[in-house]
Amino acid sequence: MTKTIIIYESIYGNTKEVADAIAEGIRESGVIECTVAKTREVHHTDDLAGFDAIIFGSPNHNQEPSRNMLKFIERASIVHLDPKVGAAFDTYTGGNKGIAVKKLEQVVRQKMSCITFVIDSFSALVEDRKGPLSEGELNRAIEFGKQVAAKILA
Ligand SMILES: Cc1cc2nc3c(=O)[nH]c(=O)nc-3n(C[C@H](O)[C@H](O)[C@H](O)COP(=O)(O)O)c2cc1C
Repeated sequence: MTKTIIIYESIYGNTKEVADAIAEGIRESGVIECTVAKTREVHHTDDLAGFDAIIFGSPNHNQEPSRNMLKFIERASIVHLDPKVGAAFDTYTGGNKGIAVKKLEQVVRQKMSCITFVIDSFSALVEDRKGPLSEGELNRAIEFGKQVAAKILA
């Protein structure tokens, strides 16, 4: 079975909720296994070799991916990995839609050349710094997961 991992960072839990919803969408394909892990739960980045696709998710922190996500990418960059499909998402408040995730993709491209992004990034709006997610965002995340699955299987 095709294996995917969603690696996320989250302080208040909103990005985790989005990660879980994307996983739900991916699993609906019926033929892709999807693991969801916080950056610190990936102890050995060479374990990433076992996945066909990696999806990165981070909250927008001062218009950047979170520091822990950047540290994770640094850790992962030292491992040699075969080519993999990639996708990315962020959560944000207010007017910063997509800013952190674009930088996240940029850093991944620089540091993990094994990753090829196959789909436009996804951004989910949170109502306030601590959340909750705006209405409809989890359904959009599930849809994004389905689209990611289609790209992985293409
Ligand atoms: C230190 C910090 C800086 C933030 N800076 C921004 C920002 O520049 N733009 C923005 O849209 N949201 C910003 N936010 C709001 C976060 O995007 C929001 O807290 C996050 O999406 C919630 O995700 P989480 O529940 O997974 O932690 C910031 C939050 C924190 C904690």
